[in-house]
Amino acid sequence: MNLIFATHNQHKVSELKKLVPKSYSIFSLKDICCFNEIEETGSTLEENAQIKADYIRYKFGLDCFSDDSGLEIDALNGYPGVFSSRYAGPKKNNDLNIQKIWAELKGVKYPSASFRSVFHLHLSGKTYSFEGRVNGNIIFEKRGNSGFGYDPIFIPKGFNKTFGELGCEIKNKISHRAKASKKLIDLLRKCRID
Ligand code: IMP
Repeated sequence: MNLIFATHNQHKVSELKKLVPKSYSIFSLKDICCFNEIEETGSTLEENAQIKADYIRYKFGLDCFSDDSGLEIDALNGYPGVFSSRYAGPKKNNDLNIQKIWAELKGVKYPSASFRSVFHLHLSGKTYSFEGRVNGNIIFEKRGNSGFGYDPIFIPKGFNKTFGELGCEIKNKISHRAKASKKLIDLLRKCRID
């Protein structure tokens, strides 16, 4: 089955390709020649996930799913959350985002946080939403080169290494996106689309 993933984020695309069974082919926005930047004007992950999926559904008439995800830090009242990619400004600079978080967390010991991912799916005239979450802690140094975004500063609960150190095989077993995509696949199977 072909699935359109309404994202330009190639890290997310390559994660999803590894997460779904081989019988599913994932196509990104680039693959369907959509190079437009979809404006994420929502104030929650749920709203932004819907905005991205709706854009593709109504502009191209295609079934698709989207993911809006972010890092929610308890000591920062859930920030950066929906602003995760552009926390330090519209240029979406990852290093600056991390520096900003460290500055705001100064003095907080082993801050607790979670990654949350919300999927929005358009399928045969119906819409569905799924959520995945992984709890953990922020550290004040970058460790590991795997993954993207905040992976080098996030240690998932039950581990002593960051997502950046654990690598994609372990991340894809426990991550927020892994949990949301499992719900997506379960639904597609229930609808007998596999
Ligand atoms: P989105 O593309 O608007 O959903 O923004 C997601 C942003 O949240 C990314 O640019 C990262 O900064 C952060 N993020 C989401 N998922 C992950 C992850 O799995 N690892 C690290 N950072 C993530």
